[in-house]
Parts: sequence; C-alpha cells; structure tokens
Amino acid sequence: MYKINENFQKLPGSYLFSTIGKKVAAYQQANPDKEIIRLGIGDVTQPLAPAIIEALHKAVDEMGNAATFRGYAPDLGYEFLRSAIANTDYKARGCDISADEIFVSDGAKSDSANIQELFAADSRIAVTDPVYPVYVDSNVMAGRTGEYDPKTEMWSNVIYMPSTAENGFVPELPKEVPDMIYLCLPNNPTGTTLTKDELQVWVDYANKNGSVIIFDAAYEAYISEADVPHSIYECEGAKTCAIELRSFSKNAGFTGVRLGFTVVPKELKCGDVSLNAMWARRHGTKFNGAPYIVQRAGEAVYSEAGKAQLKDQVAYYMNNAKVIKDGLAEAGYTVYGGVNAPYIWLKTPENMNSWEFFDFLLENANVVGTPGSGFGPSGEGYFRLTAFGNYENTVKALERIKAL
Ligand SMILES: Cc1ncc(COP(=O)(O)O)c(C=O)c1O
Repeated sequence: MYKINENFQKLPGSYLFSTIGKKVAAYQQANPDKEIIRLGIGDVTQPLAPAIIEALHKAVDEMGNAATFRGYAPDLGYEFLRSAIANTDYKARGCDISADEIFVSDGAKSDSANIQELFAADSRIAVTDPVYPVYVDSNVMAGRTGEYDPKTEMWSNVIYMPSTAENGFVPELPKEVPDMIYLCLPNNPTGTTLTKDELQVWVDYANKNGSVIIFDAAYEAYISEADVPHSIYECEGAKTCAIELRSFSKNAGFTGVRLGFTVVPKELKCGDVSLNAMWARRHGTKFNGAPYIVQRAGEAVYSEAGKAQLKDQVAYYMNNAKVIKDGLAEAGYTVYGGVNAPYIWLKTPENMNSWEFFDFLLENANVVGTPGSGFGPSGEGYFRLTAFGNYENTVKALERIKAL
C-alpha cells in the first residue's frame, strides 16, 4: 500500500475562507431576503484597466496569427516584462535589481508556498503572528513545523513574533535565531507596515545571524507614506539576505488573470551556492512559464496609460479604506491599518472573540469580515475588513455598522 505525506494530516481544520464561506452560505439560505455585503476575502472588484484590456486583446490576436503565435514562454519570464519590472519597480526606486534576478510566475501565493523548497528540511521558520496562513501551511506540508497544539494554536517548531497593538504592530526580533523569516509588508491582515529604518533592523539582523528573509510585498502599491519602503532592497544589505515576492493581483486586479514575480538577487548565497541559480533550476523543472497573453497584460501595467489608470484604481480602494476606517472610528471602534494597505484591522468590541464578532456582524449588519484569530493566536480579539469592495457597498456596510 502506498503511503501519503503524513504532514498533510497535521493541518488543522479547514482553510479559513472555506469556513467563512460555509457560514455565510448557511446564513443566506436561512435568510434569503437579506442582502449580504462581503468585506471579508481580499479579492478585488474593479474591472481590469483599459490599458490592460487593450494589451490582452492585442496579445490574443497575435496568438491567432502564425507569424506572431508564441508557444511555451521562457520559464523565467519574457524579457520585455522582466525589464519593465526591473526598471520601474526597482531601478527607478534606487534598487539595483536586474532583469535576470526576476522570476515571473503565476502569482505570489504559489511563490510564497514554493519558496521554502530551497531550504533544508530542518530549517526553522519565524512568522509574525497574525500571519498570511500560506507561509505556515506550506511549511507544515514540508514537515518543518513540528507538532500543532490546538490549545495554543501554535506549532512547536515555529517561532512566532506577535504583532499587536501593544507593540505598535512592530514585532520584536526573535530571541532564538530562525533560518527563514517571513515578513509581509504592508501587512495582511493588520494593514500596518514598518518604516524603512524599522525594516533595516531586520535586514541587519538577518545578515548578522545568517537568516534569510522572505519579504512579501503583495500590497506595495497601497503605500502612501514617504518613509515606508516599497521594496526590501531599499534597505542596505538586503541583497545578501532577502527574497522579495510581488503580485499583480492587488495593484492591477489580476486575481483572476494570475501573474506575479519573485526577486532572488545574485548576491544571495549560502556559502558559495547561489539561491538565484537554485530558484532558476526549480522554476525550469517545475514551471512552464506564465502565459504570453498575461505577461503582455503585465507589461501594460508599466505603460504610462497603465500606470495612470492603476493609480486611480488604487485610489478608489484606498478611498473605501478611509470610509471604513473613519466610519468605524466614528462608531467608537479602535482601528488600525488602512493607510498604507487596503485592510482595516479592528479591535472587537465588548470583549467578543473574533468569531463571535463575525457572527454578530453577519447576523445584525449582514456584513462579512474575517475573524482575526484565523490568522494566528495573536489575531484573537481582532477582525479584518477589506477595502476591495465597491464604493456603494462599502458605504452601505458602514452605515449598517454605525447603526448597530
Ligand atoms: C500577503 C499575500 N501574499 C500573497 C497573496 C496572493 O497573491 P496572488 O494573487 O498573486 O497569488 C495574497 C492574497 O491575498 C496575500 O494577501
């Protein structure tokens, strides 16, 4: 009889969003007349920008013509996209990242789950708490996290770095030295971030202690404050200790189109082994490239028209963030985030736990959010609302919450 990867059996419960989906479906079935507003899952609602649609149409036409048809894409990504990324996202910000340090993919979820393959099975990971669940779960599947304690909701071999109102959402450096440190900034779920000086402390720590930082910058486009870095490579020395993950999902609405990339600098080495070469090998073996059509759409993100249209799209969502943040504050809630990220993190009222507040909001305001405890034990007592809804629904949801 074959054997399964037993590590999968260790994963607790179902994925957060499927639990939410089931609860909402049950409520809707019992109350078919209620109009539910979803500010839970971090999915976008605005259509693709015209410059992107135009690029998609053009690329589709090319695929229908023998002279311009393209088959397999280069597995590391087309040069036209990698250069646009290197020039716009990095060189223009003073980061010395070149096209051959950029690996185009189908999105940051897969990259953030796959990147752990580069590291030894007995590596110790550190995560902020609360955290985007993929970082932990992918390491659970790889057998790196030890045993799960349902009481503490923690894994025995994971270093947790609480990120709470008490420490201003700036986690302390871990006391035990981890091999891999996952940082997501601006943060999902808390919507908070670090300044460049605060991030520099982590880069210095990683270089000093021989740790690698996996830096998830999926929400980079939402940064509005000048002292918040858009890339970890704005920090001195980051090229010798950090891998950066980026996504086109939130800045350009590609959640259903699928595109992302990972930066692995050539200077990032374990002894004399290049992680850039390892990731290239991994990509070449396991990935056959993001679709040509989609990469052309990605290129349009960096065109002048694309940049202007997407700036407006981000501003639209950030206006929603302001509506939520101001509305909640007016209703007496304690709120965080929403300034450099499309997430608002609120303290649940009257000592309700996160799931109690989820039910309360669903039943009394017909608004769906995400319980903070789903992101880790330090998320208990908090709740996440997203700014990715449409404006009218966001305003309506806040009116209902204010009326509670
Ligand atoms: C922190 C973080 N990283 C990555 C992703 C996934 O991005 P993608 O759509 O590119 O897979 C998300 C999506 O919600 C996210 O919140």
